[in-house]
Amino acid sequence: MTSAQTIAVPRSSARSAADHAFPAFGALPRRAGIGLKNEHAADLLRDRPPVGFLEIHAENYMGAGGPPHHLLKGLRETYPLSVHGVGLSIGGVEDLDERHLDRLAALIERYAPQSFSEHLAWSTHAGVYFNDLFPIAYDDAALKRVVRHVQQTQERLRRPMLLENPSTYVAYARSDWSETDFLTEIARQTGCGLLLDVNNVMVSCVNHGHDAHAYLDAFPMWAVGEIHLAGYAERQDSLGARLLIDAHGSAVADDVWALFQRATARLGPTPTLIEWDNDVPELPVLLKEARAADTILAASADAPTHTAEALA
Ligand SMILES: [Fe+2]
Repeated sequence: MTSAQTIAVPRSSARSAADHAFPAFGALPRRAGIGLKNEHAADLLRDRPPVGFLEIHAENYMGAGGPPHHLLKGLRETYPLSVHGVGLSIGGVEDLDERHLDRLAALIERYAPQSFSEHLAWSTHAGVYFNDLFPIAYDDAALKRVVRHVQQTQERLRRPMLLENPSTYVAYARSDWSETDFLTEIARQTGCGLLLDVNNVMVSCVNHGHDAHAYLDAFPMWAVGEIHLAGYAERQDSLGARLLIDAHGSAVADDVWALFQRATARLGPTPTLIEWDNDVPELPVLLKEARAADTILAASADAPTHTAEALA
């Protein structure tokens, strides 16, 4: 997909992802990719190892020039690209920041990435920018708001986006929707795809005492355009219960690999990112994680596929 293509974003809740007349959220290769880290850029440029795609955090590339863009331009010649936003605050109660949207649009125009994704969360309010992604209440008002924000983003970027399920540590006393139903409805109403972060599923389900397998079974796989895998940190809360932190600072845990296998058994091969943002290891360690994901993806080749690309 190029940024020059005209994209019609469906808005009717009566339409499903199968109605898209474009590869809505299946443009990345159905292989494992890695996050682009400064520490690895020189090695990647020199050796160009065979990874499916690179993913960048949009907010790290919003300056006009400098070394980050020089490196990314060189790597973009070899690798498909996913742009992952962390600062749009799509779940926020305020209007989206038009200047942030403009910067995102310029980045998308510049690199024509195969995918753009953001989080079902909020991170800014009243001019204050937080470093964390906070959860939202899953009620009708929030649904209306998030649908409006996703539509606005897609129209501004002239492409469908992926919305990621969050990792959470607290929940609101009242939510009218389950998280999976809420995400399903957003995808139906906006035509956006979903980014299934399997580590976030494990973190949230353990922290709230939910069944991760049941969550996954309820997830609208027809809308999934990408998967995230990451390592979590494990602690105990004040009552001694298991508490998982979405730390992105270690290898993918065994129970997350098992959940990934369960997801791909339904999805078939799906673009899958290894997220490792803290205590970043040597590149070969990251590549080994990507190869492990590729092995599981290859084994899922006979699974029925549910993505829009397959249905189109
Ligand atoms: Fe993620």
